[in-house]
Amino acid sequence: MGSQAANLPPHVLIFPLPVQGHVNSMLRLAELLCLAKLHVTFIVSDFCHDRLLKHTNVESRFVCYPGFSFQTISDGLPEDHPRAGEGIPDIMPALKRVTAPLFKQMMIEKRCFASSTRRAITCIIADGVLSFTTEFAQENGIALVYFRTASAAAFWAIFCMPELIEAREIPLKGNGMDLMVKSVPGMENLIRRRDLPGFCRVDDLNETTFQRMKNDTRQCPRAQALILNTFEDLEGPTLSHIRKHLPRLYTIGPNHFHLTSKLAATTKTENSISSGSLWEEDRSCLAWLDSQPTKSVIYASFGSITVVTREQFMEFWYGLVNSGKKFLWVIRPDSIMGEGNGSRTVPDELQTGTKERGYMVSWAPQEEVLNHSSIGGFLTHSGWNSTLESMVAGVPMICWPYFADQMINSRFVSEVWKIGLDMKDTCDRVIVEKMVRELMDERKDEFLKRADDMAKLAREAVDEGGSSYTNLDSLVDYIKSMVL
Ligand code: UDX
Repeated sequence: MGSQAANLPPHVLIFPLPVQGHVNSMLRLAELLCLAKLHVTFIVSDFCHDRLLKHTNVESRFVCYPGFSFQTISDGLPEDHPRAGEGIPDIMPALKRVTAPLFKQMMIEKRCFASSTRRAITCIIADGVLSFTTEFAQENGIALVYFRTASAAAFWAIFCMPELIEAREIPLKGNGMDLMVKSVPGMENLIRRRDLPGFCRVDDLNETTFQRMKNDTRQCPRAQALILNTFEDLEGPTLSHIRKHLPRLYTIGPNHFHLTSKLAATTKTENSISSGSLWEEDRSCLAWLDSQPTKSVIYASFGSITVVTREQFMEFWYGLVNSGKKFLWVIRPDSIMGEGNGSRTVPDELQTGTKERGYMVSWAPQEEVLNHSSIGGFLTHSGWNSTLESMVAGVPMICWPYFADQMINSRFVSEVWKIGLDMKDTCDRVIVEKMVRELMDERKDEFLKRADDMAKLAREAVDEGGSSYTNLDSLVDYIKSMVL
């Protein structure tokens, strides 16, 4: 390497799983590293890239970072293939079959993205579920760091899958769901079998997912380090268990707020809410929220990949209307199994309640919504990004986890952090109504107080000197040390 190249910053390759919750979380990480003056190449599927360009300010947002660039790659699925609900099980096999070899070819042909102004990639930060990156990094002597988009609790429970299998606690086949789990150190007497990540529930369809999760998670120690989107005050006890296996562990979350806080400290304040949405945000809901009283509205959204049956949809609808509270509800066009927008036709008996109290959009500017003074509760699927966004905004939650890590997140929200209620494995209008009333009326003050305390801890973590702030500095130093 010439002396000029020797002065160039480290060059990090970031590669997320191409779905919303992973892309926006890792895009925030990319921006945090750009702010630390590292060069970043971000690999994203053509499908996600087209949507990012169409629906977000992503191009203008990154224009101020000359060291940043996008690279696109096929996710191996046809353009019109569903990437939510029933389409989810096809994502990983397609990535392995098509994207993995394309990735290798791209890295070789483009000489690891070296140019006169950029080093060849010095470190790969890969989504921890993309294990094919491990092989490439090892074969080519490139440092590999994994980023997991889930909570530490979910990561640790999945890491313990071999022990859970050995103890015959999993696979779960619908029996003994309320027994307490014994083989996840630190979580004895805390989680029931039904709170284990969704992959532990085995039916014919997800047997392969079960095997893959078990194998992939134990690959993690092959990476030099692990980054988690969480913070020490939130998940300290679980983190100490993980550190016994993965000592180089950087907790830098909540990522979205870490970025907001770093941007506010620079002159880039106009970017303070940075969207990585793959859908067009309907901002009209903000004006509607402006006209509502403080903490009077329940926000309902189930993230980017949850789909519900028409029956479940109706239970939520009745529950929300019957609660008597105002509600803002995100209904993605693809969120009801086998139906399109027509599903929003209001049944006669719900007409009045919906008109008086409900506002529906297909995609919301979620961070802004959660931080709006009118929002008093969040009916969520307990995706990890949504959970963290709600925590930072101090909004208590009603959790209806759909699958994967969401099962354990909702348990921690209700039983450990006590900032919400868990309605896992039920979908009943009476329970929805009862929980909305409990959260927003009967136990309102208690939930708001704890949610507020949690928000303070989350915000402190990313303030100067806070654990996530310091850990991000250490991560940047570590990445720099790779090129010394
Ligand atoms: C998935 C998993 O469910 C999650 O648990 C995992 O850790 C990451 O990937 P997803 O189901 O989409 O993600 O949920 P979540 O993690 O909550 O991410 C959804 C993101 O979309 C959030 O950042 C949220 O702010 C955003 N969103 C959602 C919007 O911007 N607008 C909306 O209307 C709904």
